[in-house]
This record gives sequence, C-alpha cells and structure tokens, in this order.
Amino acid sequence: MVISANQPIGVFDSGVGGLTVLSALQEKLPNETFIYIGDTARVPYGNKPLELVSQYATQLATELKNKGCKLVVIACNSASTAADLSALEKSLNIPVVGVIDATVEEALTHAGRIGVIGTSATINSNAYGNIIKAHNREHWSRACPLFAPIVEENLADDQVAFLTAKHYLNDMPMDIEALILGCTHYPYLKHTIHAFLPRLKLIDSAHATANRVASILKIQVIEAQSTASDTTYYATGDTTTFKEMATRLGHRTNAVTHLPLVF
Ligand code: DGL
Repeated sequence: MVISANQPIGVFDSGVGGLTVLSALQEKLPNETFIYIGDTARVPYGNKPLELVSQYATQLATELKNKGCKLVVIACNSASTAADLSALEKSLNIPVVGVIDATVEEALTHAGRIGVIGTSATINSNAYGNIIKAHNREHWSRACPLFAPIVEENLADDQVAFLTAKHYLNDMPMDIEALILGCTHYPYLKHTIHAFLPRLKLIDSAHATANRVASILKIQVIEAQSTASDTTYYATGDTTTFKEMATRLGHRTNAVTHLPLVF
C-alpha cells in the first residue's frame, strides 16, 4: 500500500497523558491532521503486565491504521516499552514511533547522571536504563505508580501531588541534573516537581517525539500538503469525562467519540 501525505497521524495513550505529545505534534506540524485515542477504559497501563499492554498497543495501532493513519505515535512510555515496535511496523506497513529513544537522546545532551521516573512497567523493564547504559552514562531511576492516577484524578496541583513527589524523590542523588519524565502524564506535574526540586532540568517526551516524527515524515516524503489541520478524538471509556479532563488540563478538544473495544 502506498502511503499518501494527506492521511492523518494516529496517536494513542492510556488516557490524557498522550495529549502532552499531541500538543507538541500539533504545534510542530500545523498542516497535519491527527486522530487521538485515549484508552480510558483500561487506564492505567503502568501497573499491568507488559504482555497485556503490548496487546493493547497492537490493538490500538491497528485501529489507527484501519482509520487511515499514515504513521502511528505511541504517546505512552509504558506501551512504548511493552510493544515490539519493529514487528508492529512490519505488520502494519507504516512507521510506528515510540517515545523512549527520542527522549533519551535529548537527555543525553545534559551533563551528569541522568534520573528517570516512570510507571512500574517502564521502570521495572529498565527500557530507559538499558539505552542510557549503552551510551556509557550512569542513571538513577524510580517507579512512581501514584503519579498517573493523580493526574487522571485532577490532583496534579493538589498538596497530595507535592507530598507524593516528596515521597518518591526525597532520596534522589544530588549529582542528577536532568530528570526524564518517563510517563506522558508527568508533564502535568512539572511545576509540582519543580517546586520540590527547583534545580532539576525536567525532560519530557513531547518535543523530542514531535521532532522525531517530523524527520520521519520528511525522510519518507509524506508531509501533509494541505493546511486543513484537524484532530479527531476517541475515548474507550466515558467521553464526557475525557473531554472535561482534557479541558481542565488546558487541551481544547472538539467532540469526543466513544470507541468500543472488544476486550
Ligand atoms: N502515560 C503513560 C506512560 O507514558 C501511562 C500511564 C498509565 O496508564 O499508567 O507510561
């Protein structure tokens, strides 16, 4: 099948976290159209077995391909960790972009030992640690399983978020200058983490991933030519809740359609 430039780009996450990546994509690629799926019926991914999350990733990437997407962005660290990206690319015959490689690349430009926080799935798999080690750099990591639910529960600016940050990050070594937010929900906690650790450079997946997607579109000569940029939103759970949550987090969505999944 020949990919055509004006087909949409598909983006998915377990919930609202991937909207942080979508925003960066919309900003970087204003001519593109997007389809976003928030898998809110099955959020959180980060405390589920990797094999199960990998099945979710295959299911949603296939759904996006079937909806006509020319490229799929897995805007979720846990799903990027769990999925076999090259197998997916092969079976779907379109580029499939995860968030981990590009994020590490950005982190490596900073000095010192690199810190990584993420879901249990991402941290326990050592997906970040292995790449950082392969570049002969040291890292410190910590799973923060309460952070994504805190964001989904609209508590990112609450005292509970600050106390949770303190709980997870209190013993972080002093020689860490750059901290990877290895979960796409965590950018919503940036000012809370910053309030606790103001000296740290926080690195998220959004801009690095958008840059990576832009260069793939260019190399494959599939950049959209139209200027009719638009985004279609789907949620596998309750659509009103998704829309309200996205709005509270500063993301303007138009209509959100329910995507029924066969579990
Ligand atoms: N936003 C996701 C990630 O980047 C996962 C959050 C979750 O569902 O646990 O890992």
